[in-house]
Amino acid sequence: AAYQTLIVEAPERAPGVALIRLNRPEALNALNTALLAELAEALAAAEADDQVGCIVLTGSAKAFAAGADIKEMSDKTYAQMFKADFFTAGARAVERCRKPIIAAVAGYALGGGCELAMMCDMIIAADSAKFGQPEINLGVAPGIGGTQRLTRFVGKSKAMDMILTGRMMDAAEAERSGLVSRVFPADGLIDEVLAIAAKIAAQSPLAVAMNKELVQAAYETTLTTGVALERRLFHSLFAFDDQKEGMAAFVEKRKPTFTGT
Ligand code: HXC
Repeated sequence: AAYQTLIVEAPERAPGVALIRLNRPEALNALNTALLAELAEALAAAEADDQVGCIVLTGSAKAFAAGADIKEMSDKTYAQMFKADFFTAGARAVERCRKPIIAAVAGYALGGGCELAMMCDMIIAADSAKFGQPEINLGVAPGIGGTQRLTRFVGKSKAMDMILTGRMMDAAEAERSGLVSRVFPADGLIDEVLAIAAKIAAQSPLAVAMNKELVQAAYETTLTTGVALERRLFHSLFAFDDQKEGMAAFVEKRKPTFTGT
């Protein structure tokens, strides 16, 4: 599909990876209705494609995304925001994707951009990354999960600090706080992330999907329920050929070839 606001690639050096690049350079990749609709479409396509085992979502060197598009929002009324259920459809598309999504963040990830990165399964940052929820400066609040996810990821005190002051957090602070899993020099970011994504894409897609679901459950449910779910899914993995292959390969001292069956 040809997109206006995204560039979607299947990089040769990263087999099994779909690379989705936000591409509104004139607005530092600000998220608007068109971009989120295209993102939903691109994620659905990646999800439907058996060749894709991992998705990487990235922006430019200057910005992952500098927030929701303020120019699109500024004149909207409450009735319009409510009727459009502003950005909920886009957020849901990311939230319900069953394949892992890695956010590769360089430059600004602000407002909705930070929220979009946090909806992904992990954030890997360039040393140039700057995270923030500056909505307070506009007289509003985060609207696609920022107050909830940032608080769970970095704790209440730092989330309050970020959200009430609108200040930015650099990559080192984000790594220290648990917001990002790893930090790389900016010029190597995409290659490092593609290598990580290719490694995930080479695993059993069944095991990957179940592992993703289990870690997500840790945020959605109680410990007892989460552990019970883990036990059930762990046992159920023994129904797949990939479990037999993975364990046989270990015993035979060779690399496994997973088939997703
Ligand atoms: C629309 C934006 C934008 C945004 C940048 N631009 N951010 N347009 N919405 N969120 C545009 C600028 O207007 C400008 O366009 C061009 O991108 C380059 O930006 P500059 O400001 O000139 O760049 P710079 O001086 O380097 O500053 C970078 C920046 C700043 C610090 C990131 O752009 C900034 O503060 N942006 C807004 C960040 C923000 O408040 N985000 C939260 C949005 S609210 P022109 O045409 O002038 O060249 C939100 C709510 C989420 O996200 C809830 C969802 C439902």
